[in-house]
Amino acid sequence: MTPLREVIINKKTDINPIWIMRQAGRYLPEFREIRKQNPDFIKLCLNENLSSEITLQPLKRFDLDAAIIFSDILMLPYGLNQNVKFKKNFGPLLGDLSLENISKINEDDFTNKVHPVYKAINLVSKNKITNNKSTIGFVGAPWTLLVYMINQKSPKLRLKEDFFNDSILINKILIILEKFLKIHIKNQVDNGAEIIQIFDSWAGLLEEKDLSKYVYLPTFNLVEYVKSLNIPVICFPRGIKNYKTYCETVKPNAICIDYEVDPIKISKEIQIPIQGGMDPKTLLTDKDNIKKEAEKYLDIFKDHPYIFNLGHGVLPETDPNMMDYLVKTVKNY
Ligand code: CP3
Repeated sequence: MTPLREVIINKKTDINPIWIMRQAGRYLPEFREIRKQNPDFIKLCLNENLSSEITLQPLKRFDLDAAIIFSDILMLPYGLNQNVKFKKNFGPLLGDLSLENISKINEDDFTNKVHPVYKAINLVSKNKITNNKSTIGFVGAPWTLLVYMINQKSPKLRLKEDFFNDSILINKILIILEKFLKIHIKNQVDNGAEIIQIFDSWAGLLEEKDLSKYVYLPTFNLVEYVKSLNIPVICFPRGIKNYKTYCETVKPNAICIDYEVDPIKISKEIQIPIQGGMDPKTLLTDKDNIKKEAEKYLDIFKDHPYIFNLGHGVLPETDPNMMDYLVKTVKNY
């Protein structure tokens, strides 16, 4: 069994597997080289030879325990025929949302449109570099995708004022998202994804009273679905205040914590395997500090099933040598 699955399924505490969110990305010169020649990000995600190569780039440099497929959570609205673009130094820009267009899409249209993502997963999971490593598939949580689809760009600190105005639209989109997220998950699993991570990057934007409807219930439905495929699921509800209630309600197999979570408090509150936590900005400091911070997390979770990761994606300005140092520090612990 792969180290990640040993921790998640068998609750092993004597190993410290590591992978890093956004491990394939702009901090690597070999990625920037490919990116320079491929200005269209969506097209790059849909080129299975390049996207599988990019997925494997960090594994060639560092002793990581998982490959996360180079794709994006916004491939889902793209597959539903909403326009999605990535503007340099701005982030994603989505086209107008038409319920009529989206309602026309069937399972085959969707699968055909994003098919290269599944081929890339297949290539990665069959590559010998991933022997004894996990291939992680992922999706955005329904709430985070709804945010992008209605807000049409990253919300930064708050949503558009009229975000919740059209409740019929919101409810219909949530139903459509549930259907196609399940299809997207199943296709990834059928092609070799052996763990699924659900990213809810904007869960922290909601007030407590709205969490049930937009976060807990729709994510619980997906979690149940992934479990029914016999695949472990890790949830990352970034920015929420109460991870304990989240775990008790949504019931993922493992929980990924952001860097604002107090690791000591959560190690006492939560029994399921924990992943992540360390602030990505730590990698912009020096080796002594990286070692101190990494060992802080490893010490706190010494007797807890724990997967080392950061508390959000690795920053583009990170020096790859510091990543190398981090991976070695965790492996030598
Ligand atoms: O290595 C990996 O983690 C796998 C690939 C991956 C990407 N995006 C590639 C990417 C994953 C897992 C994601 C998830 C994702 N995408 C999330 C959830 C995690 C999070 O960061 O909160 C979100 C919210 C998105 C949406 C998204 N995609 C944004 C807001 C942006 C622009 C901001 C940014 O970080 O550049 C993207 C673009 C994106 N997705 C890039 C990469 C490598 C950068 C593309 C580039 O080269 O310009």
